[in-house]
This record gives sequence, C-alpha cells and structure tokens, in this order.
Amino acid sequence: MTKADVERTLDNHRDATYTLGRTSHETTRLIEQSRIYGASTRLLCERAGISAGMRVLEVGSGAGDVAFMLAKLVGTSGQVVGVDINSNILETARQRAADAGIKNIQFIAADARELTFPNKFDALVGRFVLMYMANPQEAFGKLISHLKPDGIVAFQEPEYTLYPSLFHPDTPLINQLIQWILEVFEHSGAYLDMGIGLYRTFIQAGLPAPEIHLHSPIGAAEDWAGYRYMETIFESLLPLIEAYGIATAEQVDVETLAVRIRQEVLTSKRPFFLPIHVTAHARLSGISY
Ligand SMILES: C[S@@+](CC[C@H](N)C(=O)[O-])C[C@H]1O[C@@H](n2cnc3c(N)ncnc32)[C@H](O)[C@@H]1O
Repeated sequence: MTKADVERTLDNHRDATYTLGRTSHETTRLIEQSRIYGASTRLLCERAGISAGMRVLEVGSGAGDVAFMLAKLVGTSGQVVGVDINSNILETARQRAADAGIKNIQFIAADARELTFPNKFDALVGRFVLMYMANPQEAFGKLISHLKPDGIVAFQEPEYTLYPSLFHPDTPLINQLIQWILEVFEHSGAYLDMGIGLYRTFIQAGLPAPEIHLHSPIGAAEDWAGYRYMETIFESLLPLIEAYGIATAEQVDVETLAVRIRQEVLTSKRPFFLPIHVTAHARLSGISY
C-alpha cells in the first residue's frame, strides 16, 4: 500500500467508524455472515415477540439479510424499514429484495442516529451495528425513541473480550488471527465488549433487564463453512490491518486462510470458534419517550 492508499483507507473508516470497510468483499462477507449467524438472529426476534403485522425498524441493514428475515416474520400485513449509512450496500439490499419478490421492506440510506419518522414502530432490531457507533448508549437512546410505549427492542452484538480465552498452544494460526482481529477493532475505536455491554445499555436507557443469550458458532467438520467465513472477515479487515501496521498482506496470506485454518483444526482436533456474540431483548413496558 502507498502512503496515499493508507490515508484514503483511514479516511473511509473515520466517517462511519466501520472497521470492515465498504468493498464488494464486505458485501460478500455480510451475506456469508448471515448463513452462519442467521439462525440465532431469527431466534432472537422470535423470542422477543416480533410477529405478523408489526412495523419494525432495523438499523445497520448492510446487504439486507436481517430485514429479509424480519419481512417474513411480520408477513405481508407488516412492514420493515431498514436503515444503513452506506448507500452503496443498500443498492445490493434493494436488488436482492426485488429478486426475491419481497415487497414489505423499505431501505433508507441515513445515519441511524439522525432519523425522524411520522409514526412509531412496534419493534427495533440491530445486528452487529452498535459496536461501530462512537457513543452506543446515546445512539440506543435515540433509536428507542421511535418505538411505541410497549415496543420491542432486540439487538445482537459481538463480544470480543472473551475471544482470547479460546487461545490454545495447539492452534498458533488461529491464535494469531484472533490477536489481529482484536488489534484492528481496538485500533479502530470499535467497542470490543458491545455484546456483554448490551445488558448495561438496555438498563441505563431505562428498559427492564433484557433476556440475554451467548452464542458461538463452532465447528470442526472438514466441510464446515466457518473456515471460509473467517477468510471473508480477513478479506474485509486486511486494508485496515495493513494501514494500522498490524501485519502485512504477505503475513496474512488471505487467499490460503480457509485451507490453513481447516488444516490446523483437523491436525489439532480442536474445534474452531467463530466470533462470539450476545443477543438481548426486552420490551419498553409503558415507558414513554
Ligand atoms: C457488520 S455490518 C452488519 C450488517 C447487518 N446488520 C448484518 O448483520 O448482516 C454493520 C452495518 O452497519 C452500518 N452502520 C454503521 N454505522 C451506522 C450508522 N451510524 N447508521 C446506520 N448504519 C450504520 C454499516 O454501514 C454496516 O452496513
């Protein structure tokens, strides 16, 4: 990377405080991500009580996968409004919705913290988005103001502070990858403890104690999709890993990552944990904003 490339990369990331960038790699990664994390997101929304006929605000839509799942849950009598600060990725989300014949979603390109709506929503949902906001507590407060008095709040965020506890001497490559992930997120200003932090965020906003769950996709099968997913994480992180001087492209060797992780898992006979995440949901229970 030239110095100009580094500066451009850093600049791109300052606006959105978004570590994973805005490339086509990142769009692919978000779609792969949904294959891995989609079931837990659906479970979260079902447990939270999101159901047919509801109007749902979904923040940080990315390529649209959470919104698509919500559109099915609320059915044709319900509606989903998806918001993302990245207008390019919403073009992909809109095209995917059109291709799938989904009509009850509207995608809006905006900063989720700057929204105004004429009508209140039944539910608010976000996946892997608060950790990128400069002040998640303040953003959360603004977002729940769009809800009806008994509105549902459901968030899913990564918990990176627990991730190093999975280090083991038999898996040096995986340990190195986890270390690089932690360094790049920390350097970018993202919140590494947003998963566990959801509990405090809900309480401090005046909500009842949320129901919380910890999830970790884990696998060891030869054909598990998790190895390739980890590779897509590094495809997206690599520009910042290089820009921050954490490692070089040669050291990461992203094209061979999935193969090398799989080999290490098979040799060590230790299953591989993908990033851990926490889900939290609660109802406003009559609080009026
Ligand atoms: C890790 S991606 C998750 C996308 C999607 N929720 C999913 O799980 O597939 C985070 C998304 O949040 C968006 N984002 C970050 N800050 C935002 C903000 N202030 N307002 C709206 N969207 C934001 C990013 O552009 C990105 O698309």
